[in-house]
Amino acid sequence: MIKVALFNEISHELGNTLLVDVTSRIVERINNLLRQLSVNAPYWTIGCFAEFLRQSNNHLVVAIDGKIIAGMGTVILSYSLMGRHARIEDVIVDKPYLGKGLGRKIVEELIRIANKEGARWIDLTSNSSRVGALKLYRSLGFKDVATNCLRLALGEQDSS
Ligand SMILES: CC(C)(COP(=O)(O)OP(=O)(O)OC[C@H]1O[C@@H](n2cnc3c(N)ncnc32)[C@H](O)[C@@H]1OP(=O)(O)O)[C@@H](O)C(=O)NCCC(=O)NCCS
Repeated sequence: MIKVALFNEISHELGNTLLVDVTSRIVERINNLLRQLSVNAPYWTIGCFAEFLRQSNNHLVVAIDGKIIAGMGTVILSYSLMGRHARIEDVIVDKPYLGKGLGRKIVEELIRIANKEGARWIDLTSNSSRVGALKLYRSLGFKDVATNCLRLALGEQDSS
């Protein structure tokens, strides 16, 4: 059975022995999924990935099929003067697992975590070409917001 849960809670089932210990096989898999999301995705090292997981505001949810990560998503909590809020990012289900309800379960879990962590709202962006993702988000109650999404690329980072 495919399980959907916080990475830190089920990483031992993937072969991890410590909560923040990450094997290269897992990071390789995460990098592979990220590349499916964007060819410009950064390449995570074990150290950077472990550091990401150590931050208490970062939550990685994974769908695991045995020892394989079938899909994932992140929710990042932060504060502004408007209050505590969250941002969902990096939602991806690997091709062989599409259409089996995993995407919905992952996003539902991300929403549950944001709620539990006291977020007042959740933001996300999705390119209009991502028809399936937009349908999924809207079916879970996300509403289109009339605002402009702007980005300033810094350093050598890609702006896409
Ligand atoms: C979006 C994505 C995560 C959905 O994953 P999934 O496991 O296939 O989705 P589910 O099986 O849980 O489907 C949930 C809902 O999503 C919508 N959906 C998913 N794929 C769809 C598609 N190809 N066309 C239309 N709607 C789709 C439907 O509303 C579906 O609900 P329904 O089955 O009741 O109609 C997956 O298609 C994916 O990884 N896409 C590429 C990456 C991406 O676009 N990520 C989002 C970045 S913002």
